[in-house]
Formats: sequence, structure tokens, C-alpha cells
Amino acid sequence: MFKEVSLPLAFYNRDTWLKVAFFAVCVFMAGFSLYFTDGLVSKLEEREKQQIELYAETIRYVMTSDENADINFFFERIKKINENNTIPVIWKDGSGHLNSINIPMPNQLSTEAKQDILKQKLTEIIAENNKPIEMDMGFQKEYIYYGNSKLLKLLRYYPLSQLLVVLIIGFLGYIFFSYSRRAEQNRVWVGLAKETAHQLGTPLSSLTAWVEILRNEPQVDPNIVIELSKDIQRLETITTRFSNIGSAPILKEENLEELINTFLQYLKNRISSKVNIDVISYLAPEQCARVNRYLFEWVIENICKNGVDAMSGSGNIQIILSEGKNNVIYIDITDTGKGISNKNMSKIFSPGFSTKKRGWGLGLTLAKRIVENYHEGKLILKSTEINKGSTFRISLPKPPITA
Ligand SMILES: Nc1ncnc2c1ncn2[C@@H]1O[C@H](COP(=O)(O)OP(=O)(O)OP(=O)(O)O)[C@@H](O)[C@H]1O
Ligand SMILES: [Mg+2]
Repeated sequence: MFKEVSLPLAFYNRDTWLKVAFFAVCVFMAGFSLYFTDGLVSKLEEREKQQIELYAETIRYVMTSDENADINFFFERIKKINENNTIPVIWKDGSGHLNSINIPMPNQLSTEAKQDILKQKLTEIIAENNKPIEMDMGFQKEYIYYGNSKLLKLLRYYPLSQLLVVLIIGFLGYIFFSYSRRAEQNRVWVGLAKETAHQLGTPLSSLTAWVEILRNEPQVDPNIVIELSKDIQRLETITTRFSNIGSAPILKEENLEELINTFLQYLKNRISSKVNIDVISYLAPEQCARVNRYLFEWVIENICKNGVDAMSGSGNIQIILSEGKNNVIYIDITDTGKGISNKNMSKIFSPGFSTKKRGWGLGLTLAKRIVENYHEGKLILKSTEINKGSTFRISLPKPPITA
């Protein structure tokens, strides 16, 4: 039966909720701002349209009024309407001549040149999609075209700039959130590992001393001493692993094929004899990789053990070493186990996720940390197929071959 270890996952579920809540607040802020500014834009558009209509009405009145009308009064009114606004306006009279307001024009241009500039401007204004205002002069129809004021244009871009700000804040928040969570996890891992190495150290040295005493006792069966020594060696390896992960481990150039083969001799004695493990290397014989032997063995052990667990008793594990593009070495570990479901694929590297009765869900997290934090490499699930098997890929930077 599948099981998920509850406590750590509950912790990560809480994290997910926080992220979702944070994201929802960002979306709400952006949505509210868009809605609010959209309302403002519509109101301003309406006001500008009314201004231009008033302007058109005034022109029409002036142009069609009799000689007694107070023309000056109306010109003053037109000037007032245009004060403090930047709406570009082009008035096309009955003869097709273009007059303009709020369109900057160089002074020393001929009338023809000015008309050319205005024609160009007119196409730009028409593209802004404001319906031209028709002025019925009685004997002919004239048109007023108008664009959008600078304020309106700015206001249209304002929600976008706000959206950008909200996105940047959201992104920075996410980075900060992930960073502080990772920093906290790191402290827990490192602290626990150091403490474990420290706690194991004392009984281990006394055990070593006891074995030396037993070795010199003629009545003790030497096979017992040999087995005891092996177990002590195993405990020493575990202690070294923990002390390495609890500090900055020293990396050395190692021949990976040799390292893996040596380690497999040890591992094969601890797994079912019906599981066959092969190593194939396509690397140059002198190609090395910079690794910490103890930690790297731990990675291989975790991945291979998962492979064995995924098989029902028997099967094959193949470890292939090869070179990738961009100076990387690949270590592909393929098993013939039951594979990983789509649902679980994204969870297998999360601490605490396990589908096993006696699993802690730490093996892959630990392996990923070792590869990525201490070896500048990558550990991914390369492929998997239900009831066929899975391939995990470790990528390590390839150091230059030294003679
Ligand atoms: N080769 C594989 N084939 C099928 N499932 C796998 C394989 N490797 C990992 N898994 C799945 O990923 C889960 C997490 O693996 P991980 O090694 O982190 O923890 P675990 O093996 O369950 O427990 P632990 O390694 O701490 O004893 C496993 O429980 C299993 O469901
Ligand atoms: Mg495991």
C-alpha cells in the first residue's frame, strides 16, 4: 500500500498554502488596480470627448454666425477649452485644409510642408479610434479629428506598470521565501549530521579498542573478530559520511568506474543475489571526476537501493558512465523496477515522501543535496515507465584530463 509520511509533508503543504495565498494576494492587487484604472480611463475618455464636442460646437457657431456676433468672445472660449489640455485636434475644413491644435509644429515651414506633417498626424490620430465629430456648416460638412491626451495615454499604460511592479514584488517575495526555507533546511541537515557523527564517534573508538583486545584472546573465534571488524568499518563509513555532510567536504579527483565498482562489491553483499548490477563506462580510462568518495558512494547506494526496492525480488540495475555536451559526465542508473507514477514524479525528491512501509523518504533528498550542493552537479529522474523501470541521471562537471 502507498503511504506518505505525514509530518514533514504537512509542513510542506503549509508552505504550499502560504505560496498560494501570497500569489492570490498579488493577483487580487493586480486585478483591483486594473479594474480601478480602467474605470478612470473610461471617465477621462468621456470628458475629453465632451470637451472636443464643445469645441466643435463653438467653431461651428462662430463660422455660421452673422457679422454682429461677438466673435472675440467665442475665440476666447475656444482658447479656454484648450488651455491645460494636450488633446491633439485636427480640423478639416470644407476645402480639405487642415488646422491643428496641440500639435507641435516647427516655425519656419511652408504651408505645404505643414499640411504634409498634419496629414501624417491625421493618420496617426485616426488610428487612435476616436470617432470624428461632424460639424454641419449648412452649406457643407466639416470634421474634427482628435487623439488622446498625454494623461489618457499614460493612464492606459499605468495598469501595465503596476502589474509589472506587483510581478516583481511577487517574484522577489518568492525568491526570499524559498531562500529562507532552504537556509533553514540546510541548518537542520548540517546540524543533525554533525551531531550524529559526533555521537557515533565515542562508542566507535571504544569498540575498536575492544576488538583489538579480542583479537589477542586465544579462546575467541577469529571469524567473530573478522565479522566484528567489518561491522566497525561499516560504522566508521557511516560516521565519515555524516561528518562530511556536516562540513564542507573535500573533493578529490577519482576514477568513477573504479570507485563505483569497488563500492558495488560491498553493496552486492547487502542486497538480494537475484539483482544483477552492471557498470558500463564510455569514459576515457584516465577520465576522473571531482568527488567526495564517501558521499558519492552514499548517492549510489541510495539510488541502487531504491532500484532494488522497486523490483519484486529480482531484476537488473545498469550503471552507464558517459560524456555529455558542455563538459559534463553522466552517470545513468537504470533499474527494471515498477516505475514511478505521474502523480509521484514531482514528489520523489521532497523530504518525507515515501511509498514504502519502512521508508523515511530521505534517500533521494539526501542524494540530490549531495550531488547538487557539494558537487556542483545535478540529479534528475531521467525517465520512468510503469512496470518497466526508471533511470536516474547524475550529471557532474568534467574536469580536464591530467596526464
Ligand atoms: N527507482 C525507483 N523506482 C520506483 N520508485 C522509486 C524509485 N526511486 C524512488 N522511488 C520512489 O520515491 C520515493 C522516495 O524515495 P527515497 O529514496 O527518497 O525514500 P524511500 O526510499 O522511500 O525511503 P529512504 O530512502 O529514506 O529509506 C520512494 O518511496 C519511491 O516511491
Ligand atoms: Mg530510498
